[in-house]
Amino acid sequence: MEKKVEVIMYSHPIHDFQYKNGELYCEGVKVSAIVKKVGTPVYIYSYKTLVDHYRKIREAFKAVDPIICFAMKANSNIALLSALVKEGAGFDIVSGGELKKARLVKADMKRIAFASVGKTEEEIFDAVNAGILLFNVESRPELNNINRIAGKMRKKVQVALRINPDIDVPTHDKINTGSLKKKFGIDLKTARDIFLGQKEFKNLRINGVHIHIGSQIIKGEPFLVAIEKALAFIDELERDGVKVEFFDIGGGLGIVYKDETPQTAKEYADKVLPLLKGRTFRLLMEPGRFIAGNAGIFVTRKLYLKDNGVKKFMIVDAGMNDLVRPSMYGSYHEIIPVKKVGGKKVHCDVVGPICESGDIFAHDRDMENVKDGELLAVLSAGAYGYVMSSNYNVRPRSAEVMVKGRQWAVVQERETFKDLIKGAKVPGFLK
Ligand code: LLP
Repeated sequence: MEKKVEVIMYSHPIHDFQYKNGELYCEGVKVSAIVKKVGTPVYIYSYKTLVDHYRKIREAFKAVDPIICFAMKANSNIALLSALVKEGAGFDIVSGGELKKARLVKADMKRIAFASVGKTEEEIFDAVNAGILLFNVESRPELNNINRIAGKMRKKVQVALRINPDIDVPTHDKINTGSLKKKFGIDLKTARDIFLGQKEFKNLRINGVHIHIGSQIIKGEPFLVAIEKALAFIDELERDGVKVEFFDIGGGLGIVYKDETPQTAKEYADKVLPLLKGRTFRLLMEPGRFIAGNAGIFVTRKLYLKDNGVKKFMIVDAGMNDLVRPSMYGSYHEIIPVKKVGGKKVHCDVVGPICESGDIFAHDRDMENVKDGELLAVLSAGAYGYVMSSNYNVRPRSAEVMVKGRQWAVVQERETFKDLIKGAKVPGFLK
C-alpha cells in the first residue's frame, strides 16, 4: 500500500518532519519510536534540515564566499555543531564556554568571531590564546582591556567594532538590538573616533565593522537600512585612510513559526549582494535561528485535560523550564500530535506543570483531542530551545536526539537527579 505522505508546514522550511499514514516522522524515523527508547520531553533534530539551511545561505552568498559563523547561542549541542563544522561553518560565540565548545568540535579558529557586551579577563585571554579571527567589541573600556591583555601576551589582535545603527526594528522588544536605547554596539561618532585614533591601541588592529540589529526579522528592509548605514560609515572611514577588512552583518533572519513568509536566503542575498559590489572586505554573517530553528522539534506527552468550567487546559509533561520562548516572549509555536487522531478539536491552553501562570505553550488553541499519555510535537524548536532550558522546579533538562536518514542517536542525555545536585552541599554549621 502506498504511504500517504504529508508535509506539515507549507512554506519552505520544515520538510524533513512529515506525517506518513498519520504518524509523525523525522526524516526516516518514527518520532514515537525515539520516544519509546528515550522518553519525554525530548528535542529531536533533523540533520538534513539543519545542513540544508546552512547550505542555503552558503549558496545564496557564494559570489562573495562569506565566513558563515553559526550563532552558537541558538543551539550549542555538540553533534549539531560538529555537523556544521563539517560543512565549513565557523561560529559566532559569546562566552568562554562557547569558545570551549568550538574547540571541542574542532572548529577553525580563523572562522570564529567573539561578540558579547561584557567579556571577562579570562575569556579575553582564552580567546587570544586560541587565535580567533575577530573580537567584536562594543565599548571603549572593553577595547582598553583587550589591548592591555593582548600586550601582556605579546599578541596583535583583530577587532571589529559593533556599531549601533540606531534604527527601529520591527521585532519583539526583547530581541531588538539595533537602537541606542539598547545596550548593544557603539554609537557612530564614538566608533569613528576609535577607528581614527586607533594608534592608541598598540596591540589591536581595528579593521572590522559589525552590526546585528535583532532577531526573527521577517523582511529584509531593516537589514538593508542597517547595512547601507554601515556601508556609508565604512566609506567615510576609507576616505580618511582606514582600511576595513571585515564587514560582519550579524544574524537575525526570521523563520516560520506560524504563517510568516520570511525572506529566503536567496531573496536576502539578492538584496544584499548588489550593495557589496566592488568592496574588498571579507563578509561575515552570524545566522543562528535560520539554520537551526526549523531543524528541531520538541516532543512532550499529554498528561491530562482539565476543565474548570470556564476554560480547558491541556496539561503536558514539559514546562517553561524546557522551552521558555512562549512564556518569555509570548512566542507562537505550532503544536501537533505525533499520531493524528482527527475528530472534533478541543479549544484549550496547552500548559506545563510548573507553578506559574506563565508556564504555557499555547493560548486558546484548537488542539487535536489526543488521549492522555499521547505525544505532542512542538515545532520550530531547534533554536533557543534546549539552550535556554533550566532546572527550575528541580526538573532535569530534557534529552536531545539527532536523526540522519534512518539513523538516530541521543546527542545529549537527559539529566538525572544526581546531575541536579552536583556540587550542592549542606554546610557543617547547619548540622
Ligand atoms: N549575532 C549576534 C551578535 C546576536 O546577538 C545574535 C542573537 C545572533 C547573531 C543570532 O541571531 P539569529 O540569527 O538567531 O536571529 N532568545 C531569543 C533570541 C535572542 C537572540 C540573541 N542574539 C529567542 O528565542 O527568540
